Amino acid sequence: MNIRINPASALRGECTLPGDKSLSHRVALFAALAKGDSKVENYLQSGVTQAMLGSLRALGVEWTLDNQTLIVQGKGPSGLQPPDKVLDCGNSGTTMRLLAGALAGANVECILDGSPSLRTRPMGRIVQPLRKMGVPIHASPGDIAPLKIASRSEGQSLRALEMTLPVASAQVKTALLLAGLGAQGITDLREPGPSRDHTERLLASIDVNIVREPETYRVRMEPPDIPLLPIDIQLPGDFSSAAFLLVAALIVPDSDLILRGVGLNPTRTGFLDAVRRMGAKIEIRDVEEVNGEPKGDLRIRSSQLRGIHVNGPLVVRMIDEFPIFAVAAAAAEGQTVVAEAEELRYKESDRISALCRELHDMGVNIKEKVDGFVIDGGPRLKGGAQVESHGDHRLAMALTVAGLAAEEPTVVVGAEYIQESFPEFTPILREFGAEVVGW
Ligand code: S3P
Repeated sequence: MNIRINPASALRGECTLPGDKSLSHRVALFAALAKGDSKVENYLQSGVTQAMLGSLRALGVEWTLDNQTLIVQGKGPSGLQPPDKVLDCGNSGTTMRLLAGALAGANVECILDGSPSLRTRPMGRIVQPLRKMGVPIHASPGDIAPLKIASRSEGQSLRALEMTLPVASAQVKTALLLAGLGAQGITDLREPGPSRDHTERLLASIDVNIVREPETYRVRMEPPDIPLLPIDIQLPGDFSSAAFLLVAALIVPDSDLILRGVGLNPTRTGFLDAVRRMGAKIEIRDVEEVNGEPKGDLRIRSSQLRGIHVNGPLVVRMIDEFPIFAVAAAAAEGQTVVAEAEELRYKESDRISALCRELHDMGVNIKEKVDGFVIDGGPRLKGGAQVESHGDHRLAMALTVAGLAAEEPTVVVGAEYIQESFPEFTPILREFGAEVVGW
């Protein structure tokens, strides 16, 4: 599906963001492992969360979803049934990795598979540590999906893991913690950087004995001897979705937007720190904590941005925001350098090479590096190009925003992938005054 984006002159208005993707995945899965009914308000209804919910149904979990309110009837880990079909994780790496960990811990025999794109993504990062715990898990050659988890016999219990993860990854950390729920002893994990800590906050909120040491990126969890408690939660808006609207307001002249109810967990908001350093005019208002997660309103006005350097722990705290960060950098004065970000090559697309190719076609001076990119920004993007989403929702949205600030209309091919995480994206942009034609 193609969309055409016309250059915009001003974006104005306000909106409330749909629920956070990472939290939506987690609450649905934790609720399925819990005993009792859980209620989740502002649940994200999108392609990737559908993959999680579809898999849970195949595992015998009853749930209803009505008006963004998800009710899950949890029967505890022993209530999960071995599925009689392959679990389809679609395009969702989070679904595959989190389910693999949870089902390994709950001793559920299954096969996990997904789209051709998901089949290219690295699974060795969960498969190897799970094997160390004693999980009979097999990946396809090259340590990719499909993954097969065999059942363990009665006497074969899992060993709790104590290890330093080679990459900072909340998906891997969460998978291992979920497997650790079914292991004997304390799971003790260290990471090389500050990956998002939603799992830790959520488990702590339902009385699991889990301790974080944010300074050393270490987490320790003692498995409870009863099933998880059910959850009653209202999810904050997705910061990563807000980031697209935020940059649109920054780089389209005369814009002024208010984004309400945005999740502001500090392990997610590195991008806010980065664009503020670039000179972004952003006010944060009405911050409150709901179920252990901070959220607030953002007011964003058009700003003249300056290039900056990004590397180190900041990369981890803004890992999903590089496609839209590159668009902000393209509109900034001076040079922006992104380094130590090789992990971007293993997302829904190889985001370093895909971004360089597509932004170059839009007239941006961008150079590819092994672990990042360098952009020499300018006042206005050329546009006038047909660009590709590479099957990546975040690339599709970033290119759409670039099109709003360009001199000539832009066509984004493969825009349907936006539905994976933010189906309301183009309707919201239209409400703000943008002309996005098709779908
Ligand atoms: C996610 C973690 C991140 C992120 C992904 C969602 C999560 O992946 O890119 O969109 O919900 O845990 P990694 O943990 O692999 O970096």
